[in-house]
Amino acid sequence: MKLILLGAPGAGKGTQAEILSKMLGIPTISTGNILRAAIKDGTPVGLEAKHYMDAGKLVPDEVIIEIIHERVAEEDCKDGYILDGVPRTIAQAESLEKAGIVFDHVVSLEISDEVIMDRMGGRRVCEHCGASYHVVAVPPKAEGVCDTCGCKLVRRKDDEPETVRARLEVYHKKTEPLKAYYAERGLLRPVENQPTVAENSEAILRVLGR
Ligand code: AP5
Repeated sequence: MKLILLGAPGAGKGTQAEILSKMLGIPTISTGNILRAAIKDGTPVGLEAKHYMDAGKLVPDEVIIEIIHERVAEEDCKDGYILDGVPRTIAQAESLEKAGIVFDHVVSLEISDEVIMDRMGGRRVCEHCGASYHVVAVPPKAEGVCDTCGCKLVRRKDDEPETVRARLEVYHKKTEPLKAYYAERGLLRPVENQPTVAENSEAILRVLGR
């Protein structure tokens, strides 16, 4: 199974990708997490990506295309994978298609900008493993501490309201056209946002025929 999760920043791609990954037994590939790890490690890719990410802009296609082609070629991807946050431009989608990668479904998480703006203030992420929480909707067992690795939960720098607005603008301009791209290929599966994470998972599984 090869899946793409499309959706605005904060739509719940990462949250759902982790749940689906466990259910389907395939890895999740998040370019956002890969880039944040590169920034933390101070690699050349991280240094280049940082100023784009802090400003809510997209990292250049050539950087992303190299990252993603390397990652999907790894051994754990041989039975499939879930792409979270990639492709995000037509150029990225075309490069995957040119490489002969065939997807089974492209799930588009549909949610309004207003709900996103409300939601992002409550997101907390683990500074070590990147696991994502929400102070109300997905709270950790102990406040401010990651359930998975016990490290500290922090706010993402790009979750400031002004940066979220910039990211939404970029999403509508550069990423939303991918819906038409994948609809033309018969792969688009829109899923309306549900009130809870569990209901969102159920709605996704329904469109996947599971
Ligand atoms: P990335 O990390 O991919 O960020 P994003 O796409 O903006 O998405 P988010 O991680 O913010 O949100 P999400 O949809 O995963 O939502 P989540 O599950 O956390 O990218 C960051 C940056 O990296 C980009 O801006 C760009 O600069 C760069 N980049 C990455 N990939 C790139 C690419 N391919 N090309 C170019 N540049 C790239 O959920 C959000 C919150 O809501 C959480 O707190 C969660 O707990 C909560 N929540 C989830 N579901 C629900 C629900 N149903 N009800 C209530 N709360 C919920």
